Amino acid sequence: ADQSAKPALRLLLAGPRGFCAGVDRAIRVVEEALRRFGAPVYVRHEIVHNRTVVEALEAKGAIFVEELDEVPENAHVIFSAHGVPKSVPVEAQRRNLLYVDATCPLVSKVHREAERHFAGGGPEQRHILMIGHTGHPEVVGTMGQLPPGAVTLINDAEEARTVQPRDPKRLAFITQTTLSVDDTAEIVDILRKRFPHIEGPRREDICYATTNRQSALKEVAHECDLVIVFGAPNSSNSQRLREVAERSGARKAILLQKPADMDWSLLKGVKTLGITAGASAPEALVQEMIAELRQRYNLETEERISKEEHISFFLPPPLSRKDNKDA
Ligand code: F3S
Repeated sequence: ADQSAKPALRLLLAGPRGFCAGVDRAIRVVEEALRRFGAPVYVRHEIVHNRTVVEALEAKGAIFVEELDEVPENAHVIFSAHGVPKSVPVEAQRRNLLYVDATCPLVSKVHREAERHFAGGGPEQRHILMIGHTGHPEVVGTMGQLPPGAVTLINDAEEARTVQPRDPKRLAFITQTTLSVDDTAEIVDILRKRFPHIEGPRREDICYATTNRQSALKEVAHECDLVIVFGAPNSSNSQRLREVAERSGARKAILLQKPADMDWSLLKGVKTLGITAGASAPEALVQEMIAELRQRYNLETEERISKEEHISFFLPPPLSRKDNKDA
C-alpha cells in the first residue's frame, strides 16, 4: 500500500503496562489446575477483570461462578486474584470443595496487615479505616478478614473528613491495592492530620504495578490528544489509569475492552495517540490495536518505558508442591 496516502499518526506506548505479577499468577493457577485436575475447574468470580482472559480459560474448561453454592460437591474451585472474605474458604471446606486460592500475594499482605492492626489494639481492638471503593471484590475480601464493624470503608476525601472513629487513639488504616496514587495521598493526609495516632503503612498499600502504570502514563499523557486504556469497566486500576490520563493533560481518555469495540471517529483530528493497558489486560490486545492502526494510518510508534519490572510470584499450594509436578 502507498504509505503516503494514509494520514500520519504518532503513537506513544506507555510502559510498563498490562499484566502484573498477580494477574499472571492467577491465570497460571487456572491453567495449571486444569492441567492437573482436568476440566471442569470452577472459578469463583472473574479470575481477573478481563473478558478476553475469562473466555480463553472458559474454552479450556474453566467454569466461572459468582458464589460457592453454584459449585458441585467435591469439585475444584479457584478463588480470584482479588481475594475473598474469610467465610469463603470456611464454606468451601464445609462443602468438601477442593480450593486453590489465587489471591494476589500483595492483597494477602494487606489482609495480614489488617489482622495485625486489629489484634495489636489491645483488649479493645484497633478500629481500621480502609481506603477503597464500595463493592469492589478486593474491598469485600479485605473487610471480610475481620468481624463485621471492625473495618470502616473510606471512599473519598469527603468521607475522610467526616468519619467518626470509635477511639481516635486506637486507629489504623489500610488501602485497596489499585487506587489512584494521588487521590490516596490526599486522603491519607487528611486522616493523619485529623488522627495523629493513626497507624498504617508509610504511604499506602497500592501495589507496585498500579503505581508504575500510573506514573508511566503520566509521562506520556500530556503529549496525547487521545489516550486509550485497555481494560474493563469493572477493573479498578484501569479506571484509575483513564482518570490519570485526563488529569495529566490528555485531551480525552477512554477505556477499551478490545480493538473491535473501537469508535474510530474518536481519532478524527488526533495527532498523537497514547496507549496503555490495565493490569488485567493482555498485551495481545495492544498489539492487535497497533496492527489495526497500521491499516489506517502511517504510524510513527514510540515506546516509553519508565521502569523495568522483574516481579513474579510462585503458584500457591497445592499447585506449588514439587511432588505434584509432572517431570
Ligand atoms: Fe496484585 Fe497489584 Fe496485580 S495487587 S493482582 S500486583 S494489580
